[in-house]
Amino acid sequence: MKRGEKAVWGLAGLITLAALYAGVVVYKAPPKLMPTYQLESPQAARGELVYRKQSCSACHRIWNLGGHKGGVLDGIGSRRSVAWLDRYLSTDNPQEMLPSSRKEFYQMPSFAALPDDKRADLVAYLSSLKTRQDDTAQAPDEAASGEHS
Ligand code: HEC
Repeated sequence: MKRGEKAVWGLAGLITLAALYAGVVVYKAPPKLMPTYQLESPQAARGELVYRKQSCSACHRIWNLGGHKGGVLDGIGSRRSVAWLDRYLSTDNPQEMLPSSRKEFYQMPSFAALPDDKRADLVAYLSSLKTRQDDTAQAPDEAASGEHS
């Protein structure tokens, strides 16, 4: 190997090591602003599959993936309680609980037909989507906006 070549390989090696190190640091202590996306439980992991199967992402975005008709669901687990999510996903008329702020035809469909166990998985998944600051905080049972009754 020529001298120049050695230097190039040495440099490449150093860059690789630095990148690995940075990766480990971010993995161990993610920056505060990053929402958490570790699936907290096997149930939440199953719920993610329900989310995909039901094509929620046709309207909703999580981590910037998905459609624009519904809202962003990042951090939904910090904004809505398990009880609220369960009610919202089992009611015949979600608009009664949360009047759509979108256009008339962009409405959250009813998922009342979803089997109970699937809904429980889905709710576990949604409530695992917390903002990091709120990691341990309990979401309020009644969110202030759009809550009637
Ligand atoms: C046809 C489009 C559409 C589909 C499909 C859809 N949603 Fe929605 N969703 C909406 C709209 C519109 C809203 C109301 C947003 C607003 O008014 O700000 C909403 C609201 C929500 C909210 C309340 C958000 C909040 O900020 O409180 C949750 C939670 C939710 N959807 C979850 C789901 C899940 C889970 C699925 C799949 C099982 C799903 N949605 C499928 C359109 C959709």
